[in-house]
Amino acid sequence: MERVPEPELMEEKEQVISYDEADFSEGEANLINQINHYLLRKNIFLDEKDLIVDLGCGPGNISEKLAIKWPNTEVIGVDGSKEMILRAEYNKKISTNEKKLKNLSYICSDIKNIESNSFLIKKRISLLVSNSLIHHITKLEDFFRTIRSLSSNITVNFHKDLKRPLDEKSALELKAQCSKKYNKTLTNDYYASLRASYTFKELKNFTLENDLSSLDVFEEGDNYLIVYGNV
Ligand SMILES: C[S@@+](CC[C@H](N)C(=O)[O-])C[C@H]1O[C@@H](n2cnc3c(N)ncnc32)[C@H](O)[C@@H]1O
Repeated sequence: MERVPEPELMEEKEQVISYDEADFSEGEANLINQINHYLLRKNIFLDEKDLIVDLGCGPGNISEKLAIKWPNTEVIGVDGSKEMILRAEYNKKISTNEKKLKNLSYICSDIKNIESNSFLIKKRISLLVSNSLIHHITKLEDFFRTIRSLSSNITVNFHKDLKRPLDEKSALELKAQCSKKYNKTLTNDYYASLRASYTFKELKNFTLENDLSSLDVFEEGDNYLIVYGNV
């Protein structure tokens, strides 16, 4: 199936509310466990000196979980959508875990301009995370340029995203499954995201052709891709 790009930022209020109100907690918990597993495998124990950055943080679901899992670190969520950042700040304020989120803050910035905003990120980043971001980025080089510019030799990258279905029929089947659980706005967004997603081959080839082969690209199940490692 041909890739059909979608707008990078999620700026419409209805879209933001639908995304925020959906329950993705199972997948989010899995993602945190997976990151923890990789860090332990590398004998990395995050503490006061460490900074975690969550790119395309949306309403902050993953950022909050990172902040709670690694309470001694500093966690920064970055999103280019003002509406999403407002939502993330609001969610932090009303969270029953508010006291545990003192180490979490948000920056509203397009990831493509984060270098010029990087004075806001004063420490070297130990863990650079994104979930469901890559497919929003129109050009793959913009995503990889950003993570390269934010990474140092200590940075572990972990980026998870949807994998583009093989054909339109498979995309429509996934859309139909989604519609059983979520509202129309979210279902339409999910379908647009599936069509905008990259394939394993596109991501893998990009890393191989651009001196990024220290990053591992692999498939998780039928529907997800992971980019993991050091840049
Ligand atoms: C599908 S949401 C994922 C939110 C969150 N990571 C999660 O897993 O729940 C994608 C988010 O990436 C943000 N985004 C997309 N392109 C971006 C860009 N170029 N710079 C900053 N944020 C971006 C969107 O505004 C949106 O909030």
